[in-house]
Amino acid sequence: MGQNAVITGWGHYVPSRVVTNFDLEKIVDTSDEWITSRTGIKERRYAADGETTSTMSFRAGRMALEKARLRPQDLDLVIVATCSPDFIFPASACMVQDALGADRAGAFDVESACTGFVSALAVARGLIVSGTHQNALVIGAETLSRFLNWKDRSTCVLFADGAGAVVVEASNASVGIESAVLHSEGSKGHMLMIEGGGAKVPATAKSLELGQHFISMQGGEVFKLAVKSMADAAEEAIAAANLRQDDIHLMIPHQANIRIIEGVAKRLHWPMEKVFVNIQKYGNTSAASIPIALSEAAAEGRLRRGDKILLVAFGGGFTWGASVLEWFGEHEPGRPKSIVERASRRVEDLVDRVLPS
Ligand code: UT7
Repeated sequence: MGQNAVITGWGHYVPSRVVTNFDLEKIVDTSDEWITSRTGIKERRYAADGETTSTMSFRAGRMALEKARLRPQDLDLVIVATCSPDFIFPASACMVQDALGADRAGAFDVESACTGFVSALAVARGLIVSGTHQNALVIGAETLSRFLNWKDRSTCVLFADGAGAVVVEASNASVGIESAVLHSEGSKGHMLMIEGGGAKVPATAKSLELGQHFISMQGGEVFKLAVKSMADAAEEAIAAANLRQDDIHLMIPHQANIRIIEGVAKRLHWPMEKVFVNIQKYGNTSAASIPIALSEAAAEGRLRRGDKILLVAFGGGFTWGASVLEWFGEHEPGRPKSIVERASRRVEDLVDRVLPS
């Protein structure tokens, strides 16, 4: 049998600026009561000036490398899942590769909106299981606060910023990332999108005036499809791993809305005690939500070696997918500590370095 793909490191970073529902009440026609009851969100984090998807990715990635006791030079792949990259190109993953000093690694971004991390993990798993890559850093990161339309209260209260990361290594272990299922429905792309700034609607004074560079969403339609699609993908990923629902210790769903998460659990007859929820603290951080939640679940001691974990997401595109993995946990302490020296000196000017002088 070939090699397995195993998560050996994890980490996350959220900006220090906390914005509560009460803060939003002062600038938008909304209320803590509405946001809490309709979404489960109490507060979220917004990036500071100078913080971007790549700088947050770097911080989460460094933490994951240190946990895995892997050196940046050991990486042969860096993937950043994001729909709010620093630039259309170069890819945010390339800036992370540079800042970490991951000199041997290929780097690219994956864009499938809130499903991004599940997609990127599927790519890394495939490349590792096929034997072409050995050590991948897989990051989900977003700076969605820069794409909020403050005149649209149905979206601006939802989305926020942060980053989560995992190290995926080739292993002789008999288990690892056991399944990855991905789906899409492109005909519904218009229901959740950023219309402007690409080749179809280039940035112009008119596109700015129309607010086409902001997130727009038909929330009700997205909601209904999200519940059904996530439940279906969960079942498919569990079956593909040759497991039954009872075998899964913890579901880590994309954190878009507590009512969506509860809807998925209800559809699957899944007890909420076996679902990880942190939406109240961070809002919807799109591709970052699952790796942030995974990292927090590990830090809280909710993941033990041998546990079976289900990741499941739905997002713009539409895209949805799920993955089942067996938790490996940390390497034995005998492995030498990783040193990410180059990175710590360079994070502050990470983005400025690629701007024309
Ligand atoms: O992450 C990827 C996928 N994204 C999602 O999965 C998000 C999916 N959608 C949702 O989570 C929900 O549809 C929303 C949270 C976006 C909206 O919740 P809803 O229960 O579907 O509300 P609604 O859009 O049907 O609006 C109900 C009412 C409307 O007022 P009227 O027309 O009934 O008078 C809205 O104007 O709530 C109003 N409303 C608000 N009121 C206070 C909408 N946003 C707000 C707000 N504060 N922020």
